[in-house]
Amino acid sequence: MLNSEVLNELKTIVGAEDVLTAPEHLLTHAYDGTPLLRRKPEAVVIPDNTEEIVAIMKLANEADFKVVPRGSGTGLSGGSIPTENSIVLLLTRLNRLLEVDAANLTALAQAGVITGHLHAAVEAQGLFYPPDPGSKDISTLGGNVAENSGGLRGLKYGVTKDYVLGLEVILPTGEVLWTGGKSVKDVAGYDLKHLFIGSEGTLGIFTQILVKLIPKPETKRTMLAYFDSVTDAGEAVSALIAAHVIPATLEFLDHTTIRCVEDFAHIGLPTDIAALLLIEVDGRKALVEEDAQRVMEVCRQHRAREFKIAATEEEGTQMAEARRVALAALARVRPTTILEDATVPRSEVPRMLAVIEETARKYQVQIGTFGHAGDGNLHPTFLTDERDEEEIARVHKAFDDIFAGAIALGGTITGEHGVGLAKRRFLPQQTGEVGIRLMQQLKGVLDPKNVLNPGKVIEPGTRLDELWEVRGGAKVLPFV
Ligand code: LAC
Ligand code: ZN
Repeated sequence: MLNSEVLNELKTIVGAEDVLTAPEHLLTHAYDGTPLLRRKPEAVVIPDNTEEIVAIMKLANEADFKVVPRGSGTGLSGGSIPTENSIVLLLTRLNRLLEVDAANLTALAQAGVITGHLHAAVEAQGLFYPPDPGSKDISTLGGNVAENSGGLRGLKYGVTKDYVLGLEVILPTGEVLWTGGKSVKDVAGYDLKHLFIGSEGTLGIFTQILVKLIPKPETKRTMLAYFDSVTDAGEAVSALIAAHVIPATLEFLDHTTIRCVEDFAHIGLPTDIAALLLIEVDGRKALVEEDAQRVMEVCRQHRAREFKIAATEEEGTQMAEARRVALAALARVRPTTILEDATVPRSEVPRMLAVIEETARKYQVQIGTFGHAGDGNLHPTFLTDERDEEEIARVHKAFDDIFAGAIALGGTITGEHGVGLAKRRFLPQQTGEVGIRLMQQLKGVLDPKNVLNPGKVIEPGTRLDELWEVRGGAKVLPFV
């Protein structure tokens, strides 16, 4: 419990109205987008600027409470779930776009700017910020940098880390660091910027973010290809890359996902197909037409049952909607939706899809799979019920097999959602002993009192269902 003296000091720093302790505020900040995890913070604190955050971190080190930074809370690995004796540091008020520099092709934004707002603002000037996470209309830029978010345009354009040029970071001790800048080339010293990108709120708090922009692509073409076999769809993905067509977006939906999407959004998708690919090519007009033809040929060669090219941008947006709503559509089927992020080298996508299918059969669990097939980044999504202890135990065993399968294929336990709380126990398998020790040492140097988002990423984790507690005769979820 935070004592009243500490609460008063926090109120002095940010103003009494920006320290929330009412039960409804604590409850609404007990969650992020990750199922099975929740815990109430001691308070929600809303700073307006760097100075206030510095003062809060200094106080945390003196008074020994924990700070969990949070943007919009769309994270999918539990990175912004409060820990014991913690405050949530809500960064959404730092929401100003400070500069768009057309001469240098950069934008400087505060960390709480919504990703989709940045897209719209720079596109209005003929510029483009490519990272396009699924949650872009809600998520903040700071959260994207903390998680090194990917999204639907990773194949051609890369992910968040490829567009961060500079960061203002508040260190866990309260010191302020500027790393990076507008120079395209900069090799002065260690690359600290990339240490903080993807550190999942454990090494520093971002306040300002300088991103790289590119010219907005002149045009784009959206296509859908329907397949009767998952293997054909998977092989079409590899064949497209091998044919040197690099679409901006190359997304996969399996049969279960397609059925749920159609049921939810009534887009007109055939519900008897095994898989579909959503493909977008962009760039100069002439080249885009050529690429679209090439995509169609390759899909036909791989036995696509039907191939559709959007005639207009609106039609294209509607096609892309089939993919955008996938998670929401799957989430309607059963009470609990657990989405994973197993990622493999893209040539291994057909094999990874087979591992997922076999695992679902072995443990008799329902999985809908969609994802960024062009990046090898798949989202096998478990449709389950957290109240069914026996089923959840099977779901966890299935996770073990899927992650082991991804690692065995040369892949990773997470391509874009991070480790957070949910995947801690798999990390040593991925990094090896030296890797995890080095990460723990880095954390120790930056955060000697372990005040910033402790317990995440690098601390040993147990299986989430083993954390369930018996209270009043009933098994309840952890962290309630
Ligand atoms: C997506 C999120 C779940 O791809 O990563 O929609
Ligand atoms: Zn994704």
